[in-house]
Order: sequence, then C-alpha cells, then structure tokens
Amino acid sequence: MPLPKDFLWGAATSAHQVEGGNWTSDWWRIERTSGAPLEPSGDAVDHYHRYPEDMQLLADAGLNAYRFSIEWARIEPEKGEYSRAQLQHYRRMIDTAREAGLEPVVTLHHFSNPAWFAAESGWTAPGGVDHFAMYVETVSSILDGVDWVATINEPNILSLMEMMRQASSSGAVASGLTAAQMPIPDEETGLVLVEAHRRAVEILRANTSARVGWTIAQQAFVAGPGSEETFPRISWLWEDLYLQASRGDDFVGTQSYTSQTIDSNGVVPHPDSPDNTLNGWAYRPDALGIALRHAHEVTEGVPLLVTENGIATADDERRIAYTSAALRHLTAAVEDGIDVRGYLHWSALDNFEWGDWGPTFGLIAVDRETFVRQPKPSLAWLGSVARSNGVT
Ligand code: BGC
Repeated sequence: MPLPKDFLWGAATSAHQVEGGNWTSDWWRIERTSGAPLEPSGDAVDHYHRYPEDMQLLADAGLNAYRFSIEWARIEPEKGEYSRAQLQHYRRMIDTAREAGLEPVVTLHHFSNPAWFAAESGWTAPGGVDHFAMYVETVSSILDGVDWVATINEPNILSLMEMMRQASSSGAVASGLTAAQMPIPDEETGLVLVEAHRRAVEILRANTSARVGWTIAQQAFVAGPGSEETFPRISWLWEDLYLQASRGDDFVGTQSYTSQTIDSNGVVPHPDSPDNTLNGWAYRPDALGIALRHAHEVTEGVPLLVTENGIATADDERRIAYTSAALRHLTAAVEDGIDVRGYLHWSALDNFEWGDWGPTFGLIAVDRETFVRQPKPSLAWLGSVARSNGVT
C-alpha cells in the first residue's frame, strides 16, 4: 500500500447541515426569505445533541478522523457578544472526537454567517474581514491540541453566495447546480476571502500548533475543443485563484464530486443521463484524481487532504462503487508522488443539502422524526478500507 501509515480516514459534516436550530445564522433566514422554494433546515438531524453517538458510529466502523465545523453564528450570535457556553460545546466535541479515537479536523466557517454579519453586508463590507478575524481569535482559544484546522470552506462557492446575496438579498445557491449553471465567482469577492484566510492563518499560527489551510471546491475541469482562451480564465476564477493563495499553507483541502468540460463557450452542462447523481451531477469518480493532480500543480506541492468527496445517491451499492473508484484514482496520484494526507468522505450523515433534503450523501441514514441513526453498508465498507489503509 502506498498510503502513509498515519493516513486520515474519516467522514465530514458541517454545522448548519446537521446540527439543527441554527436560528441566529443568515441561512436560517435565507431558507425563509429567498423566494426560491427552499426546504428549511429545522432540527436538521440534531447532531448538536447527538454528536457523541455519531462520532462513536464512525469510530466503531474503523474510521480514525472526523471533520466538522464550528458555527460562527452560535459563537457570536450578536455582534461582539461571544458565547462561552457555545465555545465550551465545541471544545467538548473536540474532546469527544479524541476520546473516540477520531482525529478532529475542524472547519471554522462552512457557508453560514451570523445573521447580523450578513445584515451588515457581509464579507465585502468595510470591517467584514476584521469581524471574521475577531471570531477566529476568539475561537482559537478552544483549539488546543487540534492538529488540523480549515479556516473557510469552499471560498469559491462562498463568493457565489456573497454575489447572490448582494444581487437579490437572498444568498441562496440552490443545491444541485453545476458550474455550468452558476455564474463564475467574481474575483473581487474572492480576493476579500483570500485576505480573510491570510488573516486567519496568521492568528491560528500565533495561537495554536495546528496545521492550517482552507478547503476548495474543485470542478476537475477538463479542456474541451476551442478552450485555449476560456480554460485559463474560467479555471483561474473558479479555483486557481484560491489554490494559488494556499501556497505556504500547511495543507489544502480538496473537494470534488464531478468533472466539468470547458469549451470555447465556457463550462459545458452535464447532459441528462440515468447515470447522473441525485443532484444531477455526472457520475465521475475520476474527478478526485483530476482535482488532486491539479491542486498539487497549482499549489506547487502543498500537502493535500481530501476534505470532501462523495455521491448523492439512494443506492448505497453505488456509493461504494463510486468511492472505491475514487480511491483508486487517489492511490494512483499518491503513486505518482503527490502528497495526500487523508480522505474524508462527504458525508457522515444524510443531511440538509442547502435547501433540499433530497440528495442523500450520507454513510448513515437518519429518521428525521425520531432521529434514529441507521448506518449504511457503505460505512462498514469505508471502515474496512480504513483498517487496511487502502482499497485492495
Ligand atoms: C459543500 C457541502 C455540500 C456538498 C455537496 C460542498 O460544496 O461543502 O456543504 O453539502 O458540497 O453538495
């Protein structure tokens, strides 16, 4: 097996998608006011109270890592008012993960903002980055002993959310859109997020001993006919801007699900196909290899951590087939000398897919009335891959 002995094998979630009752966040409002037919997150899957059980399920299966996020809207529900009780809640999550034998991979921002922050015009408003920096400073007090911290999840998708919020005061990026159906993230917003990331890295390096990076939504772009001009421009605005900004970080999180072709007109939509996943994405397990190789090249060799990869499907056999093919592509990349430190599957639990409960990405199903957890065969399968440190 070419994978390093201390390779991380885990699963990932984000606070707003699983915790429930995230009333003080902008997403709670967006779900009610966007004008788009969005389903509410509500109690989500009550991970806020049930995280010990969820972590135990991952550990019992054989995984050794868990990626979750800290919710800024809970830590700072009103501007400048930090909740000590919520800080302690997330510290307990870190300790519980460790006690279960799971390496905590902690994300400080995963799409949702405090409602007050969004109401003040968010990231691009004067002082936007300073507010985030103060939150990072505060939260760094509970990160003692945490080895992996991601500052911002998918800044490229977050820029789109910012653009949409500014355009329509909604901020919703509907679930299940592909790069072909979304506007191209705008560079100015992206640069503000780069600044926020750099500030956060500085604070975390001063206050903690964690490896610090951020996680990028990679489209696994492939150059199609006539794309000599479109490819570099789109690739830059969609992801290279963010990957390049990771040079000098301790790691970069790569997140990929499908691949997209760029031709002379731009990103080519995925054709309708019975093979498409529940959210309409083409079935492309090879996307992971493309994404890893691209991230390695653009970051000039920053260590990579797969912080998300998975498939929205109701057919768990298909999840296993997709993941096992994706892992073969990961292994091939490692054999070619690319430094990959771990694989964190998206997602641990079936969860709130940003306005839609339909696309199920989880290794664990949840009855949303009783909150009873039902691990799927894919969880045991991934656990056995973890135990043998790779697909055989
Ligand atoms: C996000 C997750 C999301 C997943 C599947 C990523 O863009 O980080 O929050 O659920 O993709 O759509």
